[in-house]
Amino acid sequence: MSGLTRFGGRLAVRLQSLTRPQAVVLMVVLALVAGVWTAAASGHAGLATSLVAVLLLGVLLGILHLSRWMAGLYRANQAAHRDLRIVVEQMQRRVVAGVEKERLSAGDRHQELTRTLARGLRQHGHGNDLLLRAQSREIEAMFQLFAEFTPRAPMPSSGDFALNPTDLLDLLYLVRLRRPQLVVELGSGTSTVWLAYALEKTGGRLVSLDHDGDYARKTREQLDAHGLSAVAEVRTAPLTELAVDGKTYRWYDVEKLADVRDIDLLLIDGPPAATGPDARYPALHALQSRLAPVATVVLDDADRPDEQDAVRRWTENITGLTAEPRLLGRHAVLSYSRSGAPASVPA
Ligand SMILES: C[S@@+](CC[C@H](N)C(=O)[O-])C[C@H]1O[C@@H](n2cnc3c(N)ncnc32)[C@H](O)[C@@H]1O
Repeated sequence: MSGLTRFGGRLAVRLQSLTRPQAVVLMVVLALVAGVWTAAASGHAGLATSLVAVLLLGVLLGILHLSRWMAGLYRANQAAHRDLRIVVEQMQRRVVAGVEKERLSAGDRHQELTRTLARGLRQHGHGNDLLLRAQSREIEAMFQLFAEFTPRAPMPSSGDFALNPTDLLDLLYLVRLRRPQLVVELGSGTSTVWLAYALEKTGGRLVSLDHDGDYARKTREQLDAHGLSAVAEVRTAPLTELAVDGKTYRWYDVEKLADVRDIDLLLIDGPPAATGPDARYPALHALQSRLAPVATVVLDDADRPDEQDAVRRWTENITGLTAEPRLLGRHAVLSYSRSGAPASVPA
């Protein structure tokens, strides 16, 4: 009984979900079945047969309609399948093209990297070569320095901020040739000790300025250790503002040289470049009036753009100042003659 109830319930649900044309077809079929049944019961065999024939025709038409509908469905399914295949093929082509493009550009990058590496290796080799030659030059200069002087204590290093041995060699050669009575050095250190040894021999005196109290003290200690304090003194001269040609620079407190006159040799090796652009340019503006009538000016690091510019501006603007040709080191040597006449200094 309950099984029959469940069947009835399911049937009712299905009947409710029929579309209108389906409901009409069902009604017609039911009406025909009822007609066949009534005609047969009432003895109208001919009518019953006709109604059965109509029913069979309807069933045949229904099967025909169903098969056409299924064929349509199949065709739509095929078309959807074809479209899907086209989309998948297009996506495959795009993926392959993308991978190929990446592969080609990776190949290009690889080639570029190989070329850069090869160039770097070549330059590195060239750099090593230059370094080796520069080192040989400095070692040869060092031998010559120690052949000329016998220090009384270990010499401070000529690396880092100090003058190179080749520059020192040329500087001390100038001292031996020109025998300056008074040398002023801007920027103390190893060069102060070497200069003091040279001046001890020739009978000159050295005043060295250092903007940094610690470096000044260290240089004084070196001079003491070598017994050169009577020949050379180091003055601490902090950097202060100095106006030159309408521009303000940070330069040594020039008051520290208030008692200094007739500088025969001026060595410019400070202030360090890190204290500001064109750090050494003010030197001749500040000290030109304190140079001897005939003097020599040595500027270290003259291979740097700021220093090259300073030499150009000095020689253009200061009468009697000319650059001397040099063979050794990276410093520039300039001769000064207050009268403007060419200075007759030993080469
Ligand atoms: C170019 S250095 C002078 C070097 C000196 N004429 C020589 O040949 O030994 C200029 C200034 O830099 C400072 N200085 C020296 N050695 C330094 C270092 N290793 N690091 C930073 N500053 C240094 C000192 O104050 C010195 O006066």
